[in-house]
Amino acid sequence: MAKRKKFTFIDLFAGIGGFHQGCTANGGTCVFASEWDPYAQETYRANYPTTPLYGDITLKETKDAIPTNFDVLCGGFPCQAFSNAGLRKGFEDTRGTLFNEIAEILQTRKPKVAFLENVRGLVSHDSGRTLQVILRKLTHMGYRCNIPQDIIDGDNVKLLQDHAKKMILKSRDFGVPQNRQRIYIVLWRRDLNVEHFEYPKPLMTPTRLGDILEANPDPKYTISDRMWIGHQNRKARNEAAGKGFGYGLFTPDSEYANTISARYWKDGSEILIAQPGKNPRTLTPREAVRLQGYGEEFVLNKSEKQMYKQAGNSVSVPVVKEIVRQIVKQLLG
Ligand SMILES: C[S@@+](CC[C@H](N)C(=O)[O-])C[C@H]1O[C@@H](n2cnc3c(N)ncnc32)[C@H](O)[C@@H]1O
Repeated sequence: MAKRKKFTFIDLFAGIGGFHQGCTANGGTCVFASEWDPYAQETYRANYPTTPLYGDITLKETKDAIPTNFDVLCGGFPCQAFSNAGLRKGFEDTRGTLFNEIAEILQTRKPKVAFLENVRGLVSHDSGRTLQVILRKLTHMGYRCNIPQDIIDGDNVKLLQDHAKKMILKSRDFGVPQNRQRIYIVLWRRDLNVEHFEYPKPLMTPTRLGDILEANPDPKYTISDRMWIGHQNRKARNEAAGKGFGYGLFTPDSEYANTISARYWKDGSEILIAQPGKNPRTLTPREAVRLQGYGEEFVLNKSEKQMYKQAGNSVSVPVVKEIVRQIVKQLLG
């Protein structure tokens, strides 16, 4: 068997380490991680005890701890980083946003690759101009991506959006029974002399929600009559007002579930599992992390609320794993 190439990476806005999992599965070693939420830190430490984990990335002391040399910067920066108001003030000005922290680290450390993840809505945010600002900033610092530079620098934001849509991947195409769509932006240093990055092709493995469900979940996950009636009433009201759907009800035979969000702990409405003769139930915390492609060895946070929140915030591991496999092959060779 060919020897697997080794590489180093840093894990920014690390959450529970979705990038960490995808990178280490491909021969990566994490040399620095940053996550400021104490509960996410707890989960991170329980799962990756040897990784140097730091807090707030906006602090100088945190940034100073980043090694000078590493190969890949990974980061799913929080989407609330861009408020319309903030960016409109000074269009090219990303100061004060968490994206700017990523830009600063790339500027000072110059790793070969940056692998960023964000919500699909980043493409439409401020009619594509937010994404344009991000890409202008990073490409002018010596990086490139699949979108031609003249489009990034030009005025045709619609064309930029069309290109960016090719960077949106679906978790359900990578064996995860979840309808999650995210943008995965891969950038590489210009001096690597690579023209184009080939994103992984869908694996086309069939998915079935039942594959991640527990056989005998605790009855406490069955929702109360009150909550079930509340969900149904809300759905009826929304439908009458022509406002989308409300709760999502699935069975083990469903091909995939809705996207799990960070607010799943509140009422679980986006993914309810039907139970014959009973009210539906929510996912268990173990099922929630399975829905993001985490393995059975993954150590859960003891707070169920925090675990749901962290699972909803996470990237889908199998998607990241396939992209990193391509990064290693095409950009770190
Ligand atoms: C969208 S989540 C990323 C989840 C991660 N990719 C994963 O796979 O679990 C964003 C994370 O950034 C963290 N965060 C937000 N601001 C931060 C800051 N200033 N310093 C460090 N972490 C921060 C949040 O606590 C949250 O866990």
